[in-house]
Amino acid sequence: MNVLLIGSGGREHALAWSLSSSPLLSKLYCAPGNAGIAALADCVALDVGKHDAVIAFCREHEIGFVVIGPEAPLVAGLGDALGAAGIAYFGPTKAAAQLEGSKGFTKDLCREFNIPTAAYGRFKDAASAKSYLATQSAPIVVKADGLAAGKGVVIAETLEEAAAAIDACFSGAFGAAGAEVVIEEFMRGEEASFFALCDGSTALALATAQDHKRVGDGDTGPNTGGMGAYSTAPVMTPDMIERTMAEIIRPTVAGMAQRGTPFTGVLFAGLMITADGPKLIEYNARFGDPETQVLMMRLRSDLLPALIATSNGTLDKITLKWADDVALTVVMAARGYPGTPLKGTEIKGLAAAAKIDGVEIFHAGTRRDGDRLIADGGRVLNVTARGKTVAEAQAHAYAAISQIDWPEGFCRHDIGWRAIAR
Ligand code: AMP
Ligand code: GLY
Repeated sequence: MNVLLIGSGGREHALAWSLSSSPLLSKLYCAPGNAGIAALADCVALDVGKHDAVIAFCREHEIGFVVIGPEAPLVAGLGDALGAAGIAYFGPTKAAAQLEGSKGFTKDLCREFNIPTAAYGRFKDAASAKSYLATQSAPIVVKADGLAAGKGVVIAETLEEAAAAIDACFSGAFGAAGAEVVIEEFMRGEEASFFALCDGSTALALATAQDHKRVGDGDTGPNTGGMGAYSTAPVMTPDMIERTMAEIIRPTVAGMAQRGTPFTGVLFAGLMITADGPKLIEYNARFGDPETQVLMMRLRSDLLPALIATSNGTLDKITLKWADDVALTVVMAARGYPGTPLKGTEIKGLAAAAKIDGVEIFHAGTRRDGDRLIADGGRVLNVTARGKTVAEAQAHAYAAISQIDWPEGFCRHDIGWRAIAR
């Protein structure tokens, strides 16, 4: 079968790496891909916003299955267009992708189906948001409703700060994503990333992971898309996994089906493990980045049939095996990230780095210029390693990083600290 993978990040490189080993795969295409993915797939310059062009490409290249990596094409309805053209794909419909596309949508679903999450209010203007705020206490969380690339969330330490965040949202700081605001109770606990494949009725838990969202060592500085991750998350004990499936994932899948918008694809729950158990922070309707990089390192089964099973309702026939060691990934980003990253600088030394025991380097934002490898994004490389323990995987990853010659790049030096400190 020919497969088309949509996306260009480290998540897509890791998916391409896993899909490449599938005996079911004939040829892998990736749109647009990156310099790392180019070693595994034919990278094609398709405008994924033009659904007709994607469909025409699929017909021309006899694509049997499309894997949609990022949220934007899902929320824009690429899946619906492919489905209407009779092309099988991995991911939710536009209606089901609202679980990521609108925080208010997800909060209302939680309320309707009794799914544990922070108390909240939804508002379309600053005055009503502020009168709700007056009934609450700090710290409190203010979120733009729509997709804001992880930047639309303010944890306000005071009510004044929260009021300023409300004003920023309604004055267009996040564009259309801020036309509505969600105000949430601040939850305390440890965060974990939880993934489940869904076929509309069955949910299959994948491995767990923990991400490091802040840019600086010791979890300081601004939020990012994620600066590193490891799998598994020690806080996700078998009991906590079962509670998450029973209290959060399965009621969501049932609720979406009951509403007539069944969820297919991967449900990525951002969890807060509180004193009362797991609570939902937010949903994403896609694989996590960089969590996918560590999940794919540990997956021992063929990924492709599992993804296909989500689209044809046969997930109940699938079981997945995972290696029982640890995988850990460190993101190397271009100076300036998460603000404006410096682009166009040269990266050397990857071949030496990749030789280190158990190391796999996924590209997140690279391109080739002749023989030279060029940084072409904010998050640029994901140096990923396996080990018997988090400490061992961490040592391998940082040993690989020490071989990389890229003065304009930086990384955190403490990925995995929480697990190692336990
Ligand atoms: P989100 O984009 O909704 O995942 O939020 C980004 C980050 O903000 C999360 O990873 C949490 O660290 C934090 N956060 C969001 N909502 C809450 C909440 N209700 N309580 C505590 N922290 C939160
Ligand atoms: N690493 C978090 C995300 O993919 O949104």
